[in-house]
Amino acid sequence: MSVTEKEVLDWAQDYAQKSPSEILELALEHFDNIAISFSGAEDVVLVDMAAKLNKNIRVFTLDTGRLHVETYQFLEKVREKYGVKVEVTFPEVAAVQSLVDEKGLFSFYKDDHKECCTIRKVGPLRKKLSTLDAWVTGQRKDQSPGTRLEIPVAQVDHAFSTPDNMLVKFNPIAEWTSQEVWAYIRANDVPYNELHEKGFTSIGCEPCTRAILPNQHEREGRWWWEEATQKECGLHAMNVDNK
Ligand code: ADX
Ligand code: SF4
Repeated sequence: MSVTEKEVLDWAQDYAQKSPSEILELALEHFDNIAISFSGAEDVVLVDMAAKLNKNIRVFTLDTGRLHVETYQFLEKVREKYGVKVEVTFPEVAAVQSLVDEKGLFSFYKDDHKECCTIRKVGPLRKKLSTLDAWVTGQRKDQSPGTRLEIPVAQVDHAFSTPDNMLVKFNPIAEWTSQEVWAYIRANDVPYNELHEKGFTSIGCEPCTRAILPNQHEREGRWWWEEATQKECGLHAMNVDNK
């Protein structure tokens, strides 16, 4: 079903204070060709909510080739528990090959993470999104005060729409705090990445993620060698483009 930009703006207003499950239901009612972009604790909450709504939901993940073994184990747990096929996307071989040939396996520590993230995450995401009409993410406002404070629960994704296809993006748990996410996980016996038991909060690729100490901000363990305010890798380009 096709929708207009005005309808999406209305949803953003009308659903701003609704529950994540209601926002997810709205998304699934309006789009058949829709999938959850899956990597962590917030996303498995969305998968659990979709299961409770009795909705078949598609799930995709970007395998950068640099994830922790615990993340792969977590993906399998989710696949088994919910019976979902996790659609795994991989980076383009030639692009990874030439980056590694030219700059080695850890260029991001010297050059910053943009080049590697563009090849291993953003390119594959763009390819995947070109096959969808809408996607659902687990972004939250309080994950990143510098870049995510204004994310609405529904938006037209101007970063990944094409002239032929207006892509809609839903962020059903935008208003939730980390505490609410984890209260849901515990109350509903939802599987999680074992790294959370070892001091990891926000989890990305293995070389670019580390455990944090009590009371550090949750994204301080991501790309810790870089400037704190712009910790985005391009998956959510609109958060930065709009600044
Ligand atoms: S990131 O841009 O910094 O890497 P973050 O880890 O905060 O993103 O996750 C925010 C949302 O982006 C997740 O809830 C998920 O929807 C999506 N996401 C992040 N990493 C991936 C991935 N590897 N595969 C698919 N979706 C992802
Ligand atoms: Fe590369 Fe690190 Fe970005 Fe992963 S998070 S794609 S390893 S720079």
